[in-house]
Amino acid sequence: MSIQSPSGRVHIERHHTDAVSGEALAADVRAGLTAEQKTLPPKWFYDTVGSELFEEITRLEEYYPTRREREVLRAHGGDIAAATRARTLVELGSGSAEKTRVLLDALSVEGTLERYVPVDVSDSALISAAEAVAEEYPRLEVHGVVADFVEHLDVLPTGPSRLVAFLGGTIGNFEPGPRADYLHRIAGSLRPGDAFLLGTDLVKDPQRLVRAYDDAAGVTAAFNLNVLAVLNRELGADFDLESFRHVARWDAERAWIEMHLQSRRDQTVHLKALEFDVHFAAGETLRTEVSAKFTRDRLAQEYADAGLRLAAWWTDAAGDYAVSLAVPPL
Ligand code: SAH
Ligand code: TRP
Repeated sequence: MSIQSPSGRVHIERHHTDAVSGEALAADVRAGLTAEQKTLPPKWFYDTVGSELFEEITRLEEYYPTRREREVLRAHGGDIAAATRARTLVELGSGSAEKTRVLLDALSVEGTLERYVPVDVSDSALISAAEAVAEEYPRLEVHGVVADFVEHLDVLPTGPSRLVAFLGGTIGNFEPGPRADYLHRIAGSLRPGDAFLLGTDLVKDPQRLVRAYDDAAGVTAAFNLNVLAVLNRELGADFDLESFRHVARWDAERAWIEMHLQSRRDQTVHLKALEFDVHFAAGETLRTEVSAKFTRDRLAQEYADAGLRLAAWWTDAAGDYAVSLAVPPL
């Protein structure tokens, strides 16, 4: 399905429609809330409120990844543009595309860029980002895609000299098995002359990591709890948000931050649309997200396993965050 955006300046293609996402949400909730360790996939965080709360997270003092990634893109945008000479920039999980401007500027200077393809499940974030970019870059063709970047990877626009960007450390939100599968599928979707640009947060002092996911003002807590409001609205559930607390912890063995919602008491939640009840013991948790942290060696190995070659690796001055460029083998 395809529509013009409100201003008519950008083309929006929809794969993640209400009907499709309703069924996917029901299936994810059924599977996730009946598991031994209850879990939910992170994509359900991002309704309109969730996308706005995430934007607020990116501006928090404690949440360094956004600033660090912007620093790397500023310092090396020209290198990225020169190395890729991209004609199409496809961005997975583009959100507000705020940092993407740095990349768009560098690619515009290089003079090769013709088209920007932001891809996001959050239609509110996608449409406003696409509109804003179209406004700021009048010569750029903007083709937004409301889609799940996992489910719909194979239907994204193709064309010569594509740069596929996956920023914000979102790759860390995959568990290792699905991450390996996804990198492999991305590798398979790249043609000679295409490239993959990936933002990854790096392993560091656990205290700083935990603070980035448990800020003093409670914005991350509100973001985490918002997923329960999504279930209340979309599935007629009766989660009492006050009865859950936000927990972020560092798992040193897996090298990831885990985000949970912990039940403050013994309680049963009713999910009307699914006709089932979920019981939470006092202290029991629902895991809502993992955010894996990387080292250069580990990522180089994961690229190699996926059939990609690490072509360039840049970090910010403090060594907190990396942006890397990978290409399909010759
Ligand atoms: N790239 C932005 C946003 C990162 S937050 C930045 O660096 O700041 C993660 C983004 O990915 C959100 O905009 C969210 O809506 C989107 N997202 C999460 N899971 C997704 C999925 N499965 N498919 C498509 N988009 C997804
Ligand atoms: N991709 C982001 C990250 O892992 C998403 C994120 C940041 C997030 N803070 C969060 C997700 C808090 C859930 C809760 O850094």
